[in-house]
Amino acid sequence: MNEESIKKIIEKGTWYHTVSYKNTKTKGTFDYTSLVQDLNFPSMKGLNILDVGCSDGFFSKYFLEERGAERSLGLDFNNYDDSIAFEVLGKFEKDYMEKYSEMNDYKKLEDEYKSLELHNSNKFNFLKKVFNLNMEFVNGSIYELEKHGMHDVTFCGSLLEHLRDPITAIENLYSSTGKFCIIDISNSYKNYLSFLNIPLIKYTGAGGNFYHHSSNAVKLMMEAVGFKNIKTLKNYKIKIQKYGYYIPHSIVIGYK
Ligand SMILES: C[S@@+](CC[C@H](N)C(=O)[O-])C[C@H]1O[C@@H](n2cnc3c(N)ncnc32)[C@H](O)[C@@H]1O
Repeated sequence: MNEESIKKIIEKGTWYHTVSYKNTKTKGTFDYTSLVQDLNFPSMKGLNILDVGCSDGFFSKYFLEERGAERSLGLDFNNYDDSIAFEVLGKFEKDYMEKYSEMNDYKKLEDEYKSLELHNSNKFNFLKKVFNLNMEFVNGSIYELEKHGMHDVTFCGSLLEHLRDPITAIENLYSSTGKFCIIDISNSYKNYLSFLNIPLIKYTGAGGNFYHHSSNAVKLMMEAVGFKNIKTLKNYKIKIQKYGYYIPHSIVIGYK
């Protein structure tokens, strides 16, 4: 493989996650490289994973390399053709279209992608190739998971808050889960009465980040569709590298 091309995509590409490669790394919006070790993900030895909203595949890579997973199917709404990969209010569509086309680094790095036989800026496929990982990408939606069969583990990271219909999404995760499902909610809703354990959801009024969910709300939605033994794996904060402020998260696990 062309080392120069790999390095250029790592160093000059647009990345959601920080990914280390030899002595260099990507300029990700979020750097989970050390934090991920503290998130209490369980062993996934020999299990197959459905990584819903997989983006660049950082978590699939981690599950395969460090949690013992056998293979991962990464599913994402993003087609890497400049179309918007989130549900947004019609009013904000134009702004999001511009944002998406700016994020697409294919034109800038076309020669590098082509030299690796990659035909769009899909970083999941880039990581699969560069790190020789047992993972596959499929374009799709959390609302149509039935097309992709059952998986031992379903993982849905930082997606729920962007969905108009989180309840249907969790129901679909349940139907696709063989053993357990892990949901990481970003911008988790922390309220001052959290000791009362009330399941709360706050509507944000934003164009594509619809709700802030409390972890209790996610747990109740999971319980209502049938998940059992639901627990918080970790509450944490992660810095958004570009702006320097921290975003609260909550990771919840539920079993079949
Ligand atoms: C904020 S990123 C999260 C990336 C990664 N899962 C993580 O935990 O850091 C959300 C991803 O979900 C994808 N997405 C948005 N709507 C989706 C949908 N309806 N079905 C599947 N993926 C979706 C986006 O394209 C994006 O890659």
